[in-house]
Amino acid sequence: MKIRELTPEEYPKASALLRQAFPNGNYETRLFENLHKNEKKLQEWICIHRNKAIAYIAYSNAFCGKKVCGLHLAPLAVAPEMQNQGIGSELLRFSLRHKFIKDKTLFVLGDPNFYTKFGFGHCDMPICPFDKNNEHFLAIRNNTSGIFTVGYEQEFLIGM
Ligand SMILES: CC(C)(COP(=O)(O)OP(=O)(O)OC[C@H]1O[C@@H](n2cnc3c(N)ncnc32)[C@H](O)[C@@H]1OP(=O)(O)O)[C@@H](O)C(=O)NCCC(=O)NCCS
Repeated sequence: MKIRELTPEEYPKASALLRQAFPNGNYETRLFENLHKNEKKLQEWICIHRNKAIAYIAYSNAFCGKKVCGLHLAPLAVAPEMQNQGIGSELLRFSLRHKFIKDKTLFVLGDPNFYTKFGFGHCDMPICPFDKNNEHFLAIRNNTSGIFTVGYEQEFLIGM
């Protein structure tokens, strides 16, 4: 299994993987496609096994007003037939050690049982616009201050 930065030639593979990993809607696939179409700044990696894309992770800018205040981790996906074998954890750990990520404030909207194993902790502030009472909103190195609603790239709002 190899982890590498996603290249434009692999966009269709990553998009197909997201469609399989999130079968109950096409939000993540559309998000992926719109972020690329609009050339938004992303850090993203793909796991390749036997020439097949089996996992994908992305980080995009988080905002306080117009200022970047960290990164949002989303989405993380593993191909259905490869889930629960440690691949998602390995890709996540790889990304958290990466030089572009390891010093940054990170946010994720996800299952606390999964993400707290990797150092994420509950985040009271900033407010997540997609999660009532920030119940599933987590952060690492949250050094933001003040009361505000964290911003996402506008592509996240499409279809919400
Ligand atoms: C969530 C996901 C990324 C985890 O990757 P994975 O390779 O399957 O997980 P790992 O084998 O590394 O870790 C297994 C752990 O993840 C948990 N897990 C698996 N799927 C999960 C899910 N959808 N939500 C929360 N936790 C999940 C397992 O219960 C297991 O926990 P344990 O170690 O306490 O037993 C993957 O299952 C997936 O892509 N699911 C569908 C898409 C999705 O729901 N993504 C959510 C993140 S945006």
